[in-house]
Amino acid sequence: MRMVETIESVRRAVQSASKPLGLVPTMGYLHEGHLSLIRTARAECDAVVVSIFVNPTQFGPGEDFERYPRDLNRDLSLCEREGVDVVFTPNAREMYPQGFRTYVDVTELQDRWEGASRPGHFRGVATVVTKLFRIVQPQRAYFGEKDYQQLKLVQRMAADLVLDVEVIGCPIIREPDGLAMSSRNVYLDDESRRRAAALFAALADAQRDLACGVRSAARLCTDMRAALDRVGGIAIDYVAVVDPESLEPVDVVANEARALIAAWVGGVRLIDNAPLVPPA
Ligand code: PAJ
Repeated sequence: MRMVETIESVRRAVQSASKPLGLVPTMGYLHEGHLSLIRTARAECDAVVVSIFVNPTQFGPGEDFERYPRDLNRDLSLCEREGVDVVFTPNAREMYPQGFRTYVDVTELQDRWEGASRPGHFRGVATVVTKLFRIVQPQRAYFGEKDYQQLKLVQRMAADLVLDVEVIGCPIIREPDGLAMSSRNVYLDDESRRRAAALFAALADAQRDLACGVRSAARLCTDMRAALDRVGGIAIDYVAVVDPESLEPVDVVANEARALIAAWVGGVRLIDNAPLVPPA
């Protein structure tokens, strides 16, 4: 495994790599969710690049950029064990040199849900992912459905800007009680950790409602909110039922839709989502 820190050295490393080349962008502090993306890339590509970069431009003022969990040595040994070919760990100066002025906006898609709660977040994501795509020039890139809006935004951006990369979505990896794995779960104290499973339980309730014939998005949202409220100690940011591509809210689940939840649990902001597939 090669470890590289500069754009020049990662470009040199990938030039000699076999193709197709797969890229897995991360902010590190790797868990089974990240590893599932790496394993899928490993199975589908001849060479795999993992980037580890806590991207400052996607954090808002007052967010957790400074205290975002980091453990590079552990991340490197996990990558080594998964058979990663190249790990790219640039610093902020490498990605945003003095005088940097250019950003990528994915209009409308970047403004709702996560974008409404975290202004500027997706501009930072779109910009850094575009740079990573340009630097590594992968044929395929792997993103988790955990960050469903991010996945859809990156797919839209790759198509709109003809970035010549296939953006592949991978399923959400969960803890045994259903909590979606996240680097930020380490912030949860014991009580909040127990409550946090309610997000998945609420999504599962919506899926069950749907299987029982409920089609009204308003009713599904009411039921998800009630499931979260029952647990207590959860401050809902948003609960929504949306079109799986445009992320616009739907009134009725006539075709496949997506349920989205964002909530604060013990001072930690958590997001989760699930498909809503009406029975035939
Ligand atoms: P990060 O939060 O480190 O996540 C890296 C990738 O892992 C993302 O595609 C995310 O959706 C995926 N992932 C995280 N938890 C997962 C889980 N439980 N199951 C499946 N996949 C999961 O997302 C980012 O970093 C950044 O925004 C990034 C794309 C790297 C740009 O800076």
